[in-house]
Amino acid sequence: TRHLISSADLTRHDVESILATAESMHDVQRREVKKVPTLRGRTVINFFFEDSTRTRSSFEIAGKWMSADTINLSAKGSSTSKGESLRDTAMTVDAMAVDALVIRHNASGAARQVSQWVRCSVINAGDGTHEHPTQALLDAYTLRSRMGRLDGKHVVIVGDLTHSRVFRSNVITLKTLGARVTVVAPPTLMPAGVTAWSETDGFATSWDLDAVIDGDDAVDAMMMLRVQRERMSGGYFPTAREYTVGYGLTRERLERLVRRNPDVLVMHPGPMNRGLEIAAEVADAPQSVVLDQVSAGVAVRMAVLYHLLAGESAEQLPEGAQA
Ligand code: CP
Repeated sequence: TRHLISSADLTRHDVESILATAESMHDVQRREVKKVPTLRGRTVINFFFEDSTRTRSSFEIAGKWMSADTINLSAKGSSTSKGESLRDTAMTVDAMAVDALVIRHNASGAARQVSQWVRCSVINAGDGTHEHPTQALLDAYTLRSRMGRLDGKHVVIVGDLTHSRVFRSNVITLKTLGARVTVVAPPTLMPAGVTAWSETDGFATSWDLDAVIDGDDAVDAMMMLRVQRERMSGGYFPTAREYTVGYGLTRERLERLVRRNPDVLVMHPGPMNRGLEIAAEVADAPQSVVLDQVSAGVAVRMAVLYHLLAGESAEQLPEGAQA
């Protein structure tokens, strides 16, 4: 494939192949001198119409370590602020003969739309409430590095599902890798359509976090999502206090999880609202792999750039990435 827009674009073979490449890239990450020549002469533009810390910097680092020329643009500071349309912006960047456009945008579907206007590869770095496929890949990488194959593992995704692109991409990639998935949200943050989706794709849904924690099916990983207050306007959402009482990963809930499964992992894609969806001490607990997720983000994004830009020999490890 030339683009990475949706996690559904990736077969199990594609995901496993990207994760295997990411393992080689993690070796590059551990070196003293990290630069490899794999993408020399390639140009990657990171165009972020929404703010980002992790995704933007890890794509930039990934490109630089593989010797690509990387350029960062944001809405502020580009001619988007003068009213230039997304189509004109995309075609302008493409006319500079870049090889890849990494795009984050607040409109769901923006990455797919842009891919239809340009010749370069397009990578979705998060589009509205739709998808964030590289996040799902780095989460799968993190889980696999701790627990091996994900077949039959029980991953519980908790939080603001209405506004979460991370949730959508993760359900797809986790199911692709054979995991069992339960999603939990308050009724006001459980989007319409999830029940029908869960029936076709075979995952469980619940409004009751404590019932899932104490249920028959021990939890292998608990993925907490950020409450996206910036996307909430009008209507009823739980107050912060109600949210934490019903859906926060408190120390008491973590203790119950650990009693059932001492190897349980705690994940969060970041940025975290400490004290709201996850207690500060849980974010820093030994079970937390939040910073492993960040670290995996660089290796996985190197692997994605490699698979899209390094040509047909994508089954091979890049020469410069050999340990
Ligand atoms: N997880 C994630 O996408 O974080 P950023 O918004 O900081 O990129």
